[in-house]
Amino acid sequence: MAISIGYKKIKTAVFISGNGSNLKSLIKFSKTKKSPISIDFVISNNTKSKGLKYAKIFNIKNKILNFHKQALAEKKILQILHKNKIKFICLAGFMKILSKSFIKRFKGKIINIHPSLLPRYKGLKTHQRVLENKEKYTGCTVHFVTSKLDSGKIIIQKKLKISKRDNPKSLAKKVLAYEHIIYPKAILKIFNL
Ligand code: GRF
Repeated sequence: MAISIGYKKIKTAVFISGNGSNLKSLIKFSKTKKSPISIDFVISNNTKSKGLKYAKIFNIKNKILNFHKQALAEKKILQILHKNKIKFICLAGFMKILSKSFIKRFKGKIINIHPSLLPRYKGLKTHQRVLENKEKYTGCTVHFVTSKLDSGKIIIQKKLKISKRDNPKSLAKKVLAYEHIIYPKAILKIFNL
């Protein structure tokens, strides 16, 4: 990727909407020596996002934006990102679909994590659908974000076996544990580390 990391880490923003367990794992990773990124900003579209607590705990600047007027929210986000010299974006449970023009501004510099083996099971309620279809395996994927939902180039995937006793909740828990492992790995891979 054409981002030079030099001796400084690449300033990164994480976008969240919910629990923020991936945010927590990314923050922890970002503080290790091998990490090419630092987490300098957290954006949420949701005032109730539990993940915002990690921004507070780790003293990371953060902003909640109302996406009812998405174009306005995105305009504000772009200003924030520019002001804070953010060069890379990780979506982590961010429940809004960013506009084409926003994605274009950060082309090749936005990545996302999805709880399925893409290109299968794009969108929501993945675990429920996977179980309804009696799949034997599921997993998680980190991919580049394009304007097509959950469709950009795949960076890394982890496949895992579904047990007969799994339900959507147990599966979500299992997959999430692997998400926390592969998201940092994907970042190392992108920057050839
Ligand atoms: C994860 O399963 C992620 O793959 C999906 O939303 C969930 C977010 O979990 N996009 P968390 O907020 O990181 O705990």
